Amino acid sequence: MEAGLETAVSNAPKPGLRGDYAGVGRDYAIEQHWERYGADEHALWRRLHARQMRLVPRYACDAYLRSLDALDAGHGIPRFDSVSRVLSAATRWRLVAVPGLIPDLVFFEHLANRRFPVTFWIREEHEFSYIVEPDVFHDFFGHVPMLFDPVFADYMQAYGRGGVKAEGLGALSWLARLYWYTVEFGLIRTPQGLRSYGAGILSSPGEVDHAVTSPKPRRLLFDLRRIMRSRYRIDAYQETYFVIDGFQQLFDATEPDFTPLYRELLPLADLPADAALVEDRLVS
Ligand code: PHE
Ligand code: FE
Repeated sequence: MEAGLETAVSNAPKPGLRGDYAGVGRDYAIEQHWERYGADEHALWRRLHARQMRLVPRYACDAYLRSLDALDAGHGIPRFDSVSRVLSAATRWRLVAVPGLIPDLVFFEHLANRRFPVTFWIREEHEFSYIVEPDVFHDFFGHVPMLFDPVFADYMQAYGRGGVKAEGLGALSWLARLYWYTVEFGLIRTPQGLRSYGAGILSSPGEVDHAVTSPKPRRLLFDLRRIMRSRYRIDAYQETYFVIDGFQQLFDATEPDFTPLYRELLPLADLPADAALVEDRLVS
């Protein structure tokens, strides 16, 4: 995906989406039908994969790179069931094929049960560098490697549970920003320097460099309140990124009950995506 194609908040299927929703059950899970992919679709995958492989070693964090290598997914669109076997042995997560974006609550329930929904279809040739909906390349290449990290895997499950709760509290737009600024566009400080663990960055040919090395965007230390107040752009590279020092920090900072936090946020104004506050803690 390019700058942001999905948010937990706009996950609901919209008219005109690809993917056949006829006959999906309550959980929107479908068969992947791997045997139905054509040679052209596998070839497109290989080219997408090869292009990103030239970029991610410089920009991705170690946890991501190690799992990506182990996945060895460069030969063609992966079989979700074989990856699920390896993944469930590592972190008890598995993949479920879905027709595309699914309703928020359904998405959260999958995460809460350590199931990651992966869109089964692949983009078209003319969308090689830009696609507005998540496809199998974004969902798989961007998200699946991080599910092998034990702490990140637990964070994703906690997020799913938090989503179910936030939906009941009318707090989805705040919680969606947390997903956006971590799972999709998160940066991490490592001994090798700034790296990314965000799927939206790592599956995008253009945003990797912008996010990690360009002097243009603002990079702030992870700050839960600041994130929840910050709007984001879904149609351009991000103007602000948030940087963690490790996945345990992310897990610990989001562990407490958010109910009082949501109450605290209620009277506060949202911040624009490029806001600069005096109290911002910039990462140099
Ligand atoms: N602690 C959050 C809550 O009470 C749940 C959560 C955990 C949300 C991790 C997001 C990420 O709502
Ligand atoms: Fe995504």
